[in-house]
Amino acid sequence: MYILGMESSCDETSAAVVEMGDGVRQIKSDIVASQIEIHRLYGGVVPEIAGRAHIEAVSRITRQALDEAGVTFADIGAVAVTTHPGLIGALLVGVNFAKSLAYANQIPLVSVNHIHGHVAAAYLTDPTLKPPFMAVVVSGGHTSLFLVRDYTTFEEIGATRDDAAGEAFDKVGRVIGMPYPGGAALDKLAYEGDANAFRLPSPAVAGDNLDFSFSGLKTAALNLINTAEQKGEQIDRADLAASYTAAVVSGIVKKTDMALTGPARGIGTLVLAGGVAANSHIRNALSELCARRGVKFIVPDRSLCGDNGAMIAAAGYFEYEQGRFADTSLNASACDEM
Ligand code: KG4
Ligand code: ZN
Repeated sequence: MYILGMESSCDETSAAVVEMGDGVRQIKSDIVASQIEIHRLYGGVVPEIAGRAHIEAVSRITRQALDEAGVTFADIGAVAVTTHPGLIGALLVGVNFAKSLAYANQIPLVSVNHIHGHVAAAYLTDPTLKPPFMAVVVSGGHTSLFLVRDYTTFEEIGATRDDAAGEAFDKVGRVIGMPYPGGAALDKLAYEGDANAFRLPSPAVAGDNLDFSFSGLKTAALNLINTAEQKGEQIDRADLAASYTAAVVSGIVKKTDMALTGPARGIGTLVLAGGVAANSHIRNALSELCARRGVKFIVPDRSLCGDNGAMIAAAGYFEYEQGRFADTSLNASACDEM
């Protein structure tokens, strides 16, 4: 069946048509209108502006997704929309648009959790993937470890206690003069620096837990920059990018390994997902860890790591399979739970 997936939780308006069924997982179209250029002016996402930009883009993007897929509403078996978590004003645009489409065209409507959507990108990358597996979700707003028990059952076994990995990358990127969002630029710059140049705290929370804390690492990096500036010196940006990235990578590898040898022992597959999953250093390190542990490693293509409608359509298919339909009372929520 064809699913129309809609995403508007942050600064990307996206619509996609994905074919899902027994042995079929195929992206027919995945149109993403990014607002990055608009928010770059402010160094971060301005929620009010995001909501307005979604309104301007949503009809055009949806039309484009249907046209590129070569389908009409009559071919769509379900409309899947991100309802949570995210920026409330941004989410409401997609939710209301999807509700209207579903109602007017008599198409079943399903609600999708954005984080579950990120993980579902892996189903589109590896058509043979099925639960159970472990998932590491690293994005602008989230950093969590999950046991994915079945297609719609997620057990969180670890999470950040403060900032998300992406947020921390973006903050440091901003301070050293990278355009928003700094994550991708830091990824490249890290190859030019010395990872041992600065000693930085690990984002892996000490002890027998699977949690992260990025605020200490972020503050330590900012302090280094400020101290250098006060002395009239300039910090070596590449060295900082390399040292910072090394700290993030080793923290993520440490907790992922603890999970693989702890609650996820015996689960033979690890999925890496979310916007920060585009980071080459994290991809390489987790790939090596999985090879060492004899675990299959799956990470979506970079184009499917950032927010997009195809991942929402894929996650929506499994909600549809469970018969979990939404009606016109469907709402959005900024929180992890509806
Ligand atoms: O998943 P996503 O598109 O949005 C949220 O759901 O939050 O993630 C966006 C985040 C941003 O913080 C961005 O800097 C980060 O993903 N990101 C990266 C890379 N590409 C995107 N972080 C590190 N390395 C990258 N290559
Ligand atoms: Zn996201």
